[in-house]
Amino acid sequence: MGTPVVLISTCNEDGSANLAPMSSAFWLGWHGVLGLDRTSKTVANIIRTNQCVLNLPSEAQVEAVDRIALTTGSNVLPPHKVARGYRFEKDKFGIAGLTPIASETIDPPRAGECPIQMEAVVERTYNMSECDPAGRGRRVLFELRIQRVFVESSILADGDPNRIDPDKWRPLIMSFQKFYGLADQQAHASRLSQIPEALYKGADLERSRTM
Ligand SMILES: Cc1cc2nc3c(=O)[nH]c(=O)nc-3n(C[C@H](O)[C@H](O)[C@H](O)COP(=O)(O)O)c2cc1C
Repeated sequence: MGTPVVLISTCNEDGSANLAPMSSAFWLGWHGVLGLDRTSKTVANIIRTNQCVLNLPSEAQVEAVDRIALTTGSNVLPPHKVARGYRFEKDKFGIAGLTPIASETIDPPRAGECPIQMEAVVERTYNMSECDPAGRGRRVLFELRIQRVFVESSILADGDPNRIDPDKWRPLIMSFQKFYGLADQQAHASRLSQIPEALYKGADLERSRTM
């Protein structure tokens, strides 16, 4: 419906890295919720390791994201991906042309070119559509806790290293399978933005500082 693209880095069984685009994600404080096709390599890797990096590309990385569309890190493709033209790719960082950079608190690497990178661990895993015989077992939701955030200095608010300036941040948006950016200006003044961001600080932030 028009949501930011996330590039998820995970570790394969042999220690190499996988990278997968997705866009069914939302954020609540220092937690993120992701919706993923259960057959993806990313899901297998997250279930096995409980770790991933959530890299947020801007419009500037759209070609890198598109280069790894229609690929999977699984060497056995499920029938629905065969039918849609997917292929196996082992080195998705290489195909995308993105640079793996060591994370600080977990094993999967960050994607260096992405302006926002978040190291995350699994809080809880939910099976979607359990009451629906047609959908049961097909999708999974991960609730992740962010424990380290890296933000490119060019999108930070002037004079405040702890805030992203939304006038500078241009997330890459996927809407009905097509890529979009954001308009340059706010659509309307925001009453919600009168709330100081400091009031949203919670225990997760303090906890991340101990890691
Ligand atoms: C921009 C974009 C957004 C996508 N969003 C999702 C998504 O939200 N959930 C999902 O399961 N797959 C999504 N996909 C498809 C996955 O990238 C695809 O399942 C891929 O094979 C996963 O890679 P993996 O098997 O190596 O984990 C998206 C693909 C693109 C290019």
